[in-house]
Amino acid sequence: MTPDNIQSLQHEQRLFTPPAAKRAHIPDMATYEEHYRRADQDPEGYWADRAKELLSWSKPWDKVMDCDFNIPKINWFVNGKLNVSYNCLDRHVENGLGDKTAIIWQGEPEEDVRHISYRELLADVVRFANILKKLGVGRGDRVALYMPMVPELAVAMLACTRIGATHSIVFAGFSAASLMNRIQDCEAKVLVTADAVLRAGKKIPLKGNVDDALTDCPTVTSCVVLKRAGIDINMVEGRDLWWHDVVADPNIAPTCPCEPMDSEDLLFILYTSGSTGKPKGVMHTTGGYLTYAAHSTQLVFNLHDDDIHFCTADIGWITGHTYIVYGPLALGVTSVMFEGVPSYPDPSRFWQLVEKFKITSFYTAPTAIRALMRDGSEWTKKNDLSSLRVLGSVGEPINPEAWMWYHENIGKSNLPVVDTWWQTETGGILISALPFATPLKPGSATRPLPGVHARIVDAEGNPTTANEGGHLIIERPWPGMLRGVFGDPERFKQQYFDRFPGKYEAGDGARQDEDGYFWIMGRLDDVINVSGHRLGTAEIESALVSHPAVAEAAVVGMPHEIKGQAIYAYVTLRADADESDELIKALRNHVRKEIGPLASPEVIQFTVGLPKTRSGKIMRRVLRKITSGSTALEDFGDTSTLADPSVIQDLIAGRHN
Ligand code: PRX
Repeated sequence: MTPDNIQSLQHEQRLFTPPAAKRAHIPDMATYEEHYRRADQDPEGYWADRAKELLSWSKPWDKVMDCDFNIPKINWFVNGKLNVSYNCLDRHVENGLGDKTAIIWQGEPEEDVRHISYRELLADVVRFANILKKLGVGRGDRVALYMPMVPELAVAMLACTRIGATHSIVFAGFSAASLMNRIQDCEAKVLVTADAVLRAGKKIPLKGNVDDALTDCPTVTSCVVLKRAGIDINMVEGRDLWWHDVVADPNIAPTCPCEPMDSEDLLFILYTSGSTGKPKGVMHTTGGYLTYAAHSTQLVFNLHDDDIHFCTADIGWITGHTYIVYGPLALGVTSVMFEGVPSYPDPSRFWQLVEKFKITSFYTAPTAIRALMRDGSEWTKKNDLSSLRVLGSVGEPINPEAWMWYHENIGKSNLPVVDTWWQTETGGILISALPFATPLKPGSATRPLPGVHARIVDAEGNPTTANEGGHLIIERPWPGMLRGVFGDPERFKQQYFDRFPGKYEAGDGARQDEDGYFWIMGRLDDVINVSGHRLGTAEIESALVSHPAVAEAAVVGMPHEIKGQAIYAYVTLRADADESDELIKALRNHVRKEIGPLASPEVIQFTVGLPKTRSGKIMRRVLRKITSGSTALEDFGDTSTLADPSVIQDLIAGRHN
């Protein structure tokens, strides 16, 4: 092992056989292996079949792929033509599915529910596409969307795709400055927004941020504003238009042809903030992205025509793009879109929705699972969850205990929990169990999907042996991968392809066990070096979370005279546990017993909250600063993606020196 590698200390051994399913796309491991082999030996044939089975193309491609990671150059379905709006709407209506529900929308207030059929959604999209055209938006132009989780957001996205415009969605929790930077970077022509966001019983103004952002966005000529909350806002004459006014215009044509797009035309830009530097505008294109979205949605959630799929993410993140809108709608299934939060008015909100809409697949994030776990399992027992077939997790490593809690309380010890590893850049899920085929190990994303060549390599790029931690890389192109960083080809190359020439570098640490299962160990930027042993954050945090008093934990390195670095742990307790010195001792012993003395935290600080990004990921970068003694907010770098900046002061106040 080279010293640069990450050492694994985890001993998770539990194994769960997947339940049998009457209709599984991939019913067993032999079928999975067969698909994997086919995609390995004949990638062009495999992906051509998938692209033809899943999508309608107005012109076939000349060549399935033309890619070279050394340049990098990535092209899929070369010269093929298709339209995303046609694939997600028109063709389903043409196939007799017009009355089928495309989107079940649950607003934040319980009584706000809409069942929108494919025909209705198509009509709304056609209308809004014509409005965008009237506002001067054409093929290749960018449209920024800064909206709550309302059906109009999906309408605006699909309207862009219909006319060949590129959307750039900015999560509605971001500040005016973040919105401004993103609009300036992509030079959007139109912005679509709302007066306010409804969240946990409150109205959070949005339009004020827009007004601030647009003070310095000269490319934006119009701003369409949806009235969601009915608060007073400022409308700028000549720039701002109410959504309800523009859609009521009697002169809008009832039809709008679908622009035939090249497979490699830009479909959307989505900004992702790395730990340093300005956010990267990740570019996804038309044919490859949609193929991969439909393919991965179908296989990972085992979706069939009558399924009701609920992904709890916000559409402002890639998870919402792929698994609320594009994947489910391309497949013609029913997708649930939820405006609220898991804990309001009480922690049974998700489960009420499962019962109410007879949801069959449910996809959420470890941060939500841990929060619900902290509130206690009694909240999971009030509703009928018997419609559920598949449970999924995404966004961070899922601690084995959180996986078990999800499996036992929501899955009633019977449903498969698929832990799905992927990134904004990958467009869709790359590593995940297939729910009715893969034997499950809590905390492992298991095996790559067919067509995905994931490997773990050491610092020199050589393959690691079983259980040896290293860098997660993807060796070959897949259709859903990013095509670039908007306006910055050098950054694209340097960020993903320079370190391991000819390979895609994910930036995550991981290991593969003796069965070939992948275990993600955390971001490589977060690795802690204790006495020369490089430890990933995920295993230590999972060991803490496996103690019955702990709901959530985050670990970072702190300077230590002898060890170089020691482990500083921030711990949130479950609702029924109390802080005490005995508990600190017990937690240290617990970690020692679970994974070894090396990982035993030097310091444990109890906290009511952890600094998280607005998508729910723990920001260890901020914790490192707090641990090292910083008190000034300026020291914390870019905190604009922090969900609740007030936790910083609490953490500083509770710091152990
Ligand atoms: O570190 C990995 C973590 O989230 C990163 C990607 O974040 P983002 O681009 O925001 O996309 C999130 C939704 C796909 C990865 O580099 N991550 C995501 N899923 C998992 C995960 N870490 C461990 N296990 C996962 N299932």
